[in-house]
Amino acid sequence: MEAVSPSATSWLHTSVGRKVVMAATGIFLMSFLVVHLAGNLLLLRSDGGAAFNAYAEFMSTNPLIRVLEILLFLGFVLHIYQGLYFIFRERAARPIRYSLNRAEANTNIFSRTMRLSAIVVLVFLIVHLRHFFVEHRLLGSPYTMYELCVAAFENPYYSAFYVLSMVFLAFHLAHGFYSSFQTLGLILNRRIERAVRWAGAAFAFVIPLGFAIIPLYFLLRTL
Ligand code: HEM
Repeated sequence: MEAVSPSATSWLHTSVGRKVVMAATGIFLMSFLVVHLAGNLLLLRSDGGAAFNAYAEFMSTNPLIRVLEILLFLGFVLHIYQGLYFIFRERAARPIRYSLNRAEANTNIFSRTMRLSAIVVLVFLIVHLRHFFVEHRLLGSPYTMYELCVAAFENPYYSAFYVLSMVFLAFHLAHGFYSSFQTLGLILNRRIERAVRWAGAAFAFVIPLGFAIIPLYFLLRTL
């Protein structure tokens, strides 16, 4: 266990500080998932992609969204940096196991597979960003965002990878949602505990399912 320093920067390098960063960025990323899913569901409208393309255009040009995008990027970088630290430190520090194996939280398959789900979600993020963000925003693809999505989702390999990744995201959230509230000391009594458990289970089920439905819809359309 590292010594707790009075300075804020060194506090961020303590075990507790690192955990708080994971929890705070985790909650921020979960709120992003809700907004992202709401936008993606526009793909299901039968308007030839008009609403989705208008949304994509708004997201890439609105100055406020651009600022939020930078915050989101920083949130991901911090979460992934600290997450990789926990994953590799956990390996190096065995048998002194830290949070990834906390006895009280380590009672189900979701907490036990946190490292695996983290790595799969990380690989998914890289592939996903390469496919859409880099292609459209950085390389200036001649195709609209809607066309890029349809082409990707009509590919059974891409869709299978996408759906499988959503299963791992569900696992990550099934433990992560509750864990983040616990880390931040927000589980003040039994009623709150039960509510957070239910909300976490619902969130971990509904959000990845919502994302997974979209590639499945486009894939099934091709049959
Ligand atoms: C949209 C994507 C993601 C969301 C919404 C998310 C959300 C969360 C949440 C809420 C937690 C619980 C924090 C806590 O225990 O206090 C967590 C934990 C964790 N996340 Fe993520 N995460 C995402 C992506 C990733 C990625 C790409 C990695 C890759 C390194 C990662 C690595 C981890 C690890 C290792 C933990 C466990 C930390 C611990 O037990 O102390 N996460 N995540």
